[in-house]
Amino acid sequence: MAKQKDKLEGDVYYPSQEILESSRVKDYDCLYKQSIENREGFWEIEAGKLSWYKKWGKVLDDSKKPFYKWFTGGKINIVANAIDRHLVSDTRNKLALIWEGEPGDFRTYSFFALNREVSKFGNVLKALGAKKGDVITIYMPQIPELIIAMLACAKIGTAHSVVYGGFSVEALAERISDAQSNILITADGGFRRGKPTNLKNIANDAMRRSPTIISCVVVKRTGEECFMEGDRDFWYHDLMSMPIASAKCETEVMDAEDPLFILYTSGTTGKPKGLVHTHGGYTVYTSTTFRYVFDYQPEDRWWCAADPGWITGHSYIVYAPMINGATTILYEGAPNYPYPNRWWQMIEKYGINILYTSPTAIRGLMRFGPSWAERHDLSSLRLLGSVGEPINPEAWKWYHEVIGKGKCPIMDTWWQTETGGFMITPLPITPLKPGSATKPFFGIEADVVDEKGNSVKPGEEGTLVIKNPWPGMARTIFRDPDQYIEKYWKQFEKQGWYLAGDSAKVDKDGYFWIIGRNDDVLKVSGYRLGSAEIESALISHPAVTEAAAIGLPDKLKGNIIHATVILAEGISGSVELEDQLKSHVQKEIGPIAKPKFVVFAESLPKTRSGKIMRRVLKAKALGQEAGDLTTLED
Ligand code: WTA
Repeated sequence: MAKQKDKLEGDVYYPSQEILESSRVKDYDCLYKQSIENREGFWEIEAGKLSWYKKWGKVLDDSKKPFYKWFTGGKINIVANAIDRHLVSDTRNKLALIWEGEPGDFRTYSFFALNREVSKFGNVLKALGAKKGDVITIYMPQIPELIIAMLACAKIGTAHSVVYGGFSVEALAERISDAQSNILITADGGFRRGKPTNLKNIANDAMRRSPTIISCVVVKRTGEECFMEGDRDFWYHDLMSMPIASAKCETEVMDAEDPLFILYTSGTTGKPKGLVHTHGGYTVYTSTTFRYVFDYQPEDRWWCAADPGWITGHSYIVYAPMINGATTILYEGAPNYPYPNRWWQMIEKYGINILYTSPTAIRGLMRFGPSWAERHDLSSLRLLGSVGEPINPEAWKWYHEVIGKGKCPIMDTWWQTETGGFMITPLPITPLKPGSATKPFFGIEADVVDEKGNSVKPGEEGTLVIKNPWPGMARTIFRDPDQYIEKYWKQFEKQGWYLAGDSAKVDKDGYFWIIGRNDDVLKVSGYRLGSAEIESALISHPAVTEAAAIGLPDKLKGNIIHATVILAEGISGSVELEDQLKSHVQKEIGPIAKPKFVVFAESLPKTRSGKIMRRVLKAKALGQEAGDLTTLED
């Protein structure tokens, strides 16, 4: 029987009439086709929606592949778009930022007020000697000054390097040293689960190890004791009340290709890689993806519940919403503090329309049951989003039903620090399949290929590649261009494709299913299996809320599967349950996926961005040293 034209395979959620009518894009296929046929034309139109000091000469310069350049000759500053242009429109008095601290304190900033703070701090940085071309390191809790500091750096033409506030001494020292920063912006601490953290003491140790820092600006947040070094350390509030902190600060005119920031990401090996993003392409790419994917409307209140210290926060807490004139929300603390309704309470309190978060967070909150969410009026929500790892269908459905009340489409966005913004993602009108990031964004040609670069058959696993450049791509690895080529462009050099480092599948309908990092792929008796698939199967068992699967070396099978699981509240581990879970996975995926070991645990080792650190589990299971643990959350 012939397949109906628009009948998709599997478990499909179609958008409501209301979403179809309100969405700015009515026909993805048509617009996608146009964006591929005339890619530069597409980006040129989007770039034209922004404010430039001088128009670009060339949209794309590919003369030095893979070091692509975008909008060459153009003059721009991201802050001219995120703030300055709003000051001459009705947006001026609109809230740019709503911030809530964990203890319950809150502050709001209009675009006008944000501009004043950013200008003042820009002047402070200049007075401390900051100049165009420098890299300033920022190590802060999730407070408004973090965003003010980022914007101030960009405004005066210095690049920022934000180091996540949960990192510790060595990670910070290493990043300061690689960036050769002279200025560090930090705070005495922040609040997490009711307790103050002590960032300044960590920063002191890091500055001892990395002696490039000449000036350190410290925001007083917790009021806890901390050591301040005489002629190096300054309180933010002192500097901001001095005459140097004038509220008049010109936004620096930057080349489109000038660096905006460096963001370090942990690789599987060795030292972190500092990915470089630029003023021109990144501004165009993040603002465009945000507008289309979350169908941003001027009255929306947008909450990306990530940390600004990661790419998700850079692109979608700070820059993309502000360029679009949106009201963005920042929350300092833990989702379940003091109770697991903290997030739902905030949605009700601020009337949030779009929530964008990670599957880990969803699963974490799902563990407490639906009643915490049911106590709150979540009817303001129109759209939901997910990022960071594949979302298992159980968590997707819970998010859809319990949080979105069955009416909010979930934008499962696949992208990376390297890509700057969303790459494979639905739009609100896209029919959704739980667990699939659906289709490529406009201008992006994605494919799943074998080692030689041939597209694999529908449903087969392969390597995810991007076949063309896009404006938001990282331009290089800071001070290590060879590594940039090696890591991302070497494998498919002949074709000129970008290697994402993920394995994936494409189904018969052209939907992409991300399996996980290539390094988390197991080979059991020659069969490939993704950790994520096994975990998803385990989580689909009612007794399990979280799971991590790793491959242990096995002489006979290559790999055997070792699973660590967290059980739902009130359930305790037993030999029977162990067997049950093994059989459950066998039933869900096949005998090949049946774990050899299932162990019960209280928590999983995770990075600050919520990714399970499987190598830590692996080392533990093998009785080895776990190695570098700087990214571990607990
Ligand atoms: C994974 C985060 C499945 C993927 C923005 C990628 C995802 C890595 C998704 C990048 C998603 C991100 N579905 N997997 N929607 N989004 N990933 O640099 O493995 O922290 O390569 O960027 O996260 O992580 P990064």
